[in-house]
Amino acid sequence: MIIAIDGPAASGKGTIARRLAAHYGLPHLDTGLLYRATARSLMERGERLENVDAAISAARGLALTDFDETQLRGAEMGEAASIMGAMPQVRAVLLDLQRQFAARQEGAILDGRDIGSIICPNAEVKIFVTAQSETRAQRRALELKSRGEKVDFAAVLADIQKRDERDSSRSSAPLIMASDAIRLDTTGLDVEKSVAAAIAIVENKTQKS
Ligand code: C5P
Repeated sequence: MIIAIDGPAASGKGTIARRLAAHYGLPHLDTGLLYRATARSLMERGERLENVDAAISAARGLALTDFDETQLRGAEMGEAASIMGAMPQVRAVLLDLQRQFAARQEGAILDGRDIGSIICPNAEVKIFVTAQSETRAQRRALELKSRGEKVDFAAVLADIQKRDERDSSRSSAPLIMASDAIRLDTTGLDVEKSVAAAIAIVENKTQKS
């Protein structure tokens, strides 16, 4: 079974994907890490983030085992990753890596922005996780605080809105809900309720097919 989970920044999709992976015993790929790791690699090479050729080469150099999440999770890396995500050539390189992961015999759960629409259009279950931007900013602020980062709520909200705008308006694989995805709005839901709602969606979908 392939489960595709998409949604905007801090919607809860990563937490839901991890919990579903544990529940169903499936491997999980957080595809945002690929874009974050590409940006990180570029920065380590001293290249500008806008350098498309260097970004392509950095993406080609990635392996699925490369990720040191402690270095990739910060706000600065989220913004840098979104610049990578707007480059069609980078997306093309990362598409193969993601499809390889999804092709595992036992199935997989992938979360990102274009999993249901581009990477795994044939996924058995597609969930589009959303929440109001203020709620998402509160969650992101808490996450950054727990990582010891200094947090300015207005700046976090502005960052989320800027990323929403860039991710939704880019020409290549913009953030859209696949026509056969189920929307899960987590505004007002805590983690347990969000996970329970996601499991109910999976059960409902798989019982029908
Ligand atoms: O999900 P996360 O916040 O880690 O993603 C960081 C950025 O990577 C997103 O804002 C988006 O621009 C890009 N991304 C993407 N496609 C994906 C996953 C992430 O474009 N499948």
